Amino acid sequence: MADQEIYRASTYAPVNIAVIKYWGKRDTKLNLPTNSSLSVTLSQDDLRTHTTASCSPAFPADTLTLNGSPQDISGARTQACLRELRHLRQSVEEQDPNTPKLSTMKLNITSGNNFPTAAGLASSAAGFAALVRAIADLYHLPATPTELSRIARQGSGSACRSLFGGYVAWQQGTHPDGSDSLAYEVAPASHWPDMRAVILVASAEKKDVSSTAGMQQTVATSALFQHRAENVVPQRIKAMEAAVHGRDFAAFAQLTTRDSNNFHACCADTDPPIFYMNDTSRAAVRMCEAINSSAGEVVCAYTFDAGPNAVVYYLAEHEDVVAGTFKALLGGLSGWEGKRGGAVKTAESVPEGMEVAGELLRRGVSSVILTGVGDGPRKTDQHLC
Ligand code: DP6
Repeated sequence: MADQEIYRASTYAPVNIAVIKYWGKRDTKLNLPTNSSLSVTLSQDDLRTHTTASCSPAFPADTLTLNGSPQDISGARTQACLRELRHLRQSVEEQDPNTPKLSTMKLNITSGNNFPTAAGLASSAAGFAALVRAIADLYHLPATPTELSRIARQGSGSACRSLFGGYVAWQQGTHPDGSDSLAYEVAPASHWPDMRAVILVASAEKKDVSSTAGMQQTVATSALFQHRAENVVPQRIKAMEAAVHGRDFAAFAQLTTRDSNNFHACCADTDPPIFYMNDTSRAAVRMCEAINSSAGEVVCAYTFDAGPNAVVYYLAEHEDVVAGTFKALLGGLSGWEGKRGGAVKTAESVPEGMEVAGELLRRGVSSVILTGVGDGPRKTDQHLC
């Protein structure tokens, strides 16, 4: 029957890992940040959310399924995204009365991740970006990725950056309604395609303190954070954009590691203090510093989100010295098999004096993920339901 028709659209959306971090909201309802941020979108071949959005007059209720488990869809963030997208669809329907009234139908959304959910691997970013992109495609919305970023931001702040590939900034904006708090492309992946990352998975558990809760404790109690938001980040965003435009890895690396350290210092300055990094994370920091010293130049940069996993950025030309050193220590773990990992040449030695750090890494890292800069959401005909 025509009125029982099911309409579908599917998308893959990438993970992004910030190099200048978002931490702190000036408006918790709209997810308006206290500072701008900048990230690298990672390849969807390695990390991605696959989402199918469908709607039909036959569906009795809106539903959301993630990795096979039904999710609560009544949360304010998901509801805000659905409301905004339906509103845009209504405008399309008003302009052309022959367009099917999809905005009045219930939505069934089905998602799957190819990486551990909520392990500090930015799953909410890929998840909300995929949800917004898939529904926008289902609704044939004429909106640009920047316009959609305003909606995805309300799902999870960092999600607004996953609507683009390559190097992406989220400008904090000044308007109270959030209309100028949007993501934009600093440069596409093709501008600096040889950016690589090895992720050392130190825990695939759900995090202790969620980003949402943690950042508001920091805003409320840390004096160091005020300084970060007002004085440190604005200059770093400009410098990072210049580093990306100029493909200046040394500048990119220094800004990335310093910003990660500054963010975690603000977490430690929170009352009560928040610790996302652990002994394994600190061993990864020491190993990266040692790799850079023994190379005699900056060849890698570490960064940590709200969890202990290390994301180590490097250029393809330094794969053997950076990823190869970690492979020498962690060669038995999953993640090195397959075409990318298999091609990494194991370093003959690790830098001197790194025995303790090496042992901590061997004990604490459970798997590795090799990836690199990648493109933005991709439409697909592979439907999940
Ligand atoms: C440390 O985007 O997860 O990864 O807006 O509350 O959903 P909500 O927070 P979320 O925070 C991400 C924090 C971060 C830094 C970053 O990605 O910029």
